[in-house]
Amino acid sequence: MNPAQIKAKIISNQRLSGNYWHLEFESGRIAKHAVAGQFVNIRVTAGPAPLLRRPISIHGAQAGKVKIIYEIIGEGTRVLSGKEPGEFLDVIGPLGNGFIYPRPAESKGAKNILIAGGMGVAPLVFLAEKLKKTKPLVLIGARTKKEILCTREFKALGCALKLATDDGSLGFKGRVTDLFKIILEQSKPAQVFSCGPHLMLKAVAEMVNEYKINAQLSLEEHMACGLGACLGCAVKTKAGYKTVCKDGPVFSGEELIW
Ligand SMILES: Cc1cc2nc3c(=O)[nH]c(=O)nc-3n(C[C@H](O)[C@H](O)[C@H](O)COP(=O)(O)OP(=O)(O)OC[C@H]3O[C@@H](n4cnc5c(N)ncnc54)[C@H](O)[C@@H]3O)c2cc1C
Ligand code: FES
Repeated sequence: MNPAQIKAKIISNQRLSGNYWHLEFESGRIAKHAVAGQFVNIRVTAGPAPLLRRPISIHGAQAGKVKIIYEIIGEGTRVLSGKEPGEFLDVIGPLGNGFIYPRPAESKGAKNILIAGGMGVAPLVFLAEKLKKTKPLVLIGARTKKEILCTREFKALGCALKLATDDGSLGFKGRVTDLFKIILEQSKPAQVFSCGPHLMLKAVAEMVNEYKINAQLSLEEHMACGLGACLGCAVKTKAGYKTVCKDGPVFSGEELIW
């Protein structure tokens, strides 16, 4: 579906914990057509600054409502956190190519594994909802337990959950990719879906390529137009440069050149 620019009414905008926020807005069109892994591009002010839209993954979409979760990083997300229910947001979406959902029969008894690093949980909750019949295994990694998000949502969807923190404050002590390696050595997953920091995705790509496992990886890049026009978000692939905003953000594990 072609993305649309809409004025979306904010339903709620609440702090989850620390610098993490949850915002819900009305959009029948985006809610109806969104695929997990797609994102919206939000203009946070009507004024001149910050000028660029902020890309944020679609975290949930149902019954005319779209959910996002975001971390306050700088000016754009700080302004966003000040928005009140009833205000309108200038949103373009749904943007990009999302995850291709496997059919339950494709799993052949093996698990789909979802691997999230930090805010990478945002699109993976939406994906877990689409894959819930396959009862995926979800691995979430973060620096400390304070940055582990969305565990309740994944559990409510019937997903098995394993956590990893760099400081050992929750779950496995170490990187989520170290945890993934241990799991890989025990059994081969049907397919892997991942979203998170660049270095984490690179490590996931190396492992899935070594073990010849299909994987879909959602990348983050700084964006300007968000529509494939400025080439500001181009990444190198085996088929030449591709834009994260239009060709991605989801790419197959084997096509990316790191
Ligand atoms: C496809 C996609 C999906 C994303 N989904 C989410 C999400 O669900 N939740 C969430 O919290 N964040 C998400 N991000 C990151 C989010 O876009 C940035 O954190 C946000 O733009 C920061 O804006 P800022 O003005 O607060 O920070 P600043 O650092 O002040 O931003 C300055 C500029 O850098 C850009 N920028 C900064 N960090 C990033 C980043 N990590 N990725 C891309 N551009 C960045 C900003 O858009 C802006 O143009 C996503 C990014 C992409 C590309
Ligand atoms: S942001 Fe302009 S091409 Fe992707």
